Amino acid sequence: MQKGTTSYLRSHNEKMNFFDLIATRHSVRAYEDKKLQDDMVDKILSAANKAPSAKNLQSYRIFVVQKKEDKKKLVTATHDQDFIEDASIVLIFCADLISAKEAGVRGLELYCIQDATIACTYSQLAVHALGLSSVWVGSFDEEMVRRLFSIDRNFKPVSMLVVGFPDEEPEKRSRKSLNEISQRI
Ligand SMILES: Cc1cc2nc3c(=O)[nH]c(=O)nc-3n(C[C@H](O)[C@H](O)[C@H](O)COP(=O)(O)O)c2cc1C
Repeated sequence: MQKGTTSYLRSHNEKMNFFDLIATRHSVRAYEDKKLQDDMVDKILSAANKAPSAKNLQSYRIFVVQKKEDKKKLVTATHDQDFIEDASIVLIFCADLISAKEAGVRGLELYCIQDATIACTYSQLAVHALGLSSVWVGSFDEEMVRRLFSIDRNFKPVSMLVVGFPDEEPEKRSRKSLNEISQRI
């Protein structure tokens, strides 16, 4: 990770094919303290809205955290992941347990978590396509997050997507080989 250079900044006009897009996305954990325009937020949310979901129920709800004081509270709720304070927005993806009931026990126990997760994934790729950066945050105190934003029991926080303008050259992390992650049967 390298700070103090802007060579990692990419314009969202720079078109990329899908495979280049997924190959060049890396988690960023240092952000410039800058606001994100509403139309950019809408584009990220629209990408989530295109994600597949069980029975097309879209059993998730996305809470968009924008205020500085709320992002500061999220630093505590995420066990001191302090880069969150400078990010432009944090999206909290929650499973919607009411809507999930329409798909029975499997809907409640599995599909709503998957729906929220896929929506988060689509958003993360959209963020990168827009020339912005992100990191998925899964390490947080669920109860604290609920309390902070008065999220009731009908919603289960599943993941967070921290989004903003990068202030570091991200680390390019290696992956397992295809043989390690798959088996042709
Ligand atoms: C389910 C999940 C939970 C994660 N939780 C955190 C987290 O709490 N904090 C963090 O900095 N990164 C978190 N990450 C990001 C991963 O560390 C990162 O995606 C992984 O190391 C691969 O790096 P890359 O995203 O740059 O390819 C999480 C990612 C996933 C998918």
